[in-house]
Amino acid sequence: MMPLSKSAFKKLRNIVGKPNCSRDKEDLVCYAYDATALSHLPDAVIFPKNVEEVSAILQLAGDEGFFVIPRGAGSGLTGGSIAINGGLILVMSRFTRIIKIDKDNLVAYVEAGVVTGNFHAAVEKEGLFYPPDPASSGFSTLGGNLAECAGGPRAVKYGVTRDYVLGLEAVIPTGEIIHTGVQTVKGVVGYDLTRLMIGSEGTLGIITRMNLRLLPLPETVGTMIAVFDEMETAAVTVSEIIKSGIVPRTVEYMDQASIQCVENYLKAGLPVNAGALLLLEVDGRVDEVNVAMDRLKSLCIQQGATKVESAETPEAVSLLWMARKSINPALFQLGPHKINEDIVVPRSKIPDMVKKIKILKDKSGLNIASYGHAGDGNIHVNIMLNKQDEAALKNANETIEELFDYTLALGGTISGEHGVGMTKAPYVGKEIGSVELNLMKEIKAIFDPKGVLNPGKIFS
Ligand code: LAC
Ligand code: ZN
Repeated sequence: MMPLSKSAFKKLRNIVGKPNCSRDKEDLVCYAYDATALSHLPDAVIFPKNVEEVSAILQLAGDEGFFVIPRGAGSGLTGGSIAINGGLILVMSRFTRIIKIDKDNLVAYVEAGVVTGNFHAAVEKEGLFYPPDPASSGFSTLGGNLAECAGGPRAVKYGVTRDYVLGLEAVIPTGEIIHTGVQTVKGVVGYDLTRLMIGSEGTLGIITRMNLRLLPLPETVGTMIAVFDEMETAAVTVSEIIKSGIVPRTVEYMDQASIQCVENYLKAGLPVNAGALLLLEVDGRVDEVNVAMDRLKSLCIQQGATKVESAETPEAVSLLWMARKSINPALFQLGPHKINEDIVVPRSKIPDMVKKIKILKDKSGLNIASYGHAGDGNIHVNIMLNKQDEAALKNANETIEELFDYTLALGGTISGEHGVGMTKAPYVGKEIGSVELNLMKEIKAIFDPKGVLNPGKIFS
């Protein structure tokens, strides 16, 4: 591949107009990073306004031989939108139209640059509900959510992003525009290209538009916290909740380090001496929610919670969620760099995994904080360190290796929602067999014969 030439840059400006393409350093710096704090300067940044412009840019990339790296809001946690080999960052921030919310059919037609939280608000105004809610929903975009197959706290009841995508429009690396899937709730004609695109991390195409399935907005939501002295007790409680037949929409947990960091950061009134905390939500009809909340409270107390408290006002609920969604940034109090993992284990194995994390913490002496979507078995293990400290980095990498091996031995996966990107690429072979991995590489080659789109991601 060639660095972006002067003449190619001129042609790009002709496609999108001069103000929408830049190679000024001050612009490049703004699009060099994602939420991993890794960074690499691209050669240029471009802001197309429609699918035809995206198509023309990809055709030009093939002809001139430069890389294109698609980017939503840059909130990814595995380096997926970083121009690791240079090239052109293609930003989807002008694709902000909610084209139609079809109330009769519970489907919405949306452009890829719509911020997920804005979409939530728009459908909720119509009495409808789009369940996927990554912690980044206040700023991440739907296109990025699809590219990564984002999850979030409500996945325990409602599933993840892929469960709400009926079809999509995308531009594949040859510049061809494809329309996949359906506008209906069912559809089985041909291979499922929609699902292939979802979670492909911007390596197979650039998603420009999508048909999203909606649900009726639940009548009410009950929110509570349960406080525990020991993380192990909280973990067993989670397994008991899953077994009990109650279907909460959220079963989140925070360990002591996460609680203390967030409290220090926000002063939200969290119990700083607790060993762990569960944040539980139930939704549905008022009578159902009341019964489920009572059952959850009794179950938590029975299992050894020292305190169980429901959030009685919308302000109290918002504060709890603000606390939960602030864990990720708040952890930087423990160290300047973060190795952020999102392993998943079968839910009955959460207590085993919690014990293992404690063993790894004691053995490595590293600052490890964990929290996450316990109801899915999806645990964010964060090692906070200074990466300039070579011994600490080596120790952290060995710890991660052991964490992944144990996760897989329990029947889990090394990533539930953040994807592979750059950071997990070296470990993919631990989970995916060589035949399957080769199939994936062949699929990539069919979509992207010249290798222009998002190089260096997923496959190491
Ligand atoms: C969260 C992100 C990191 O759950 O996935 O906070
Ligand atoms: Zn998460």
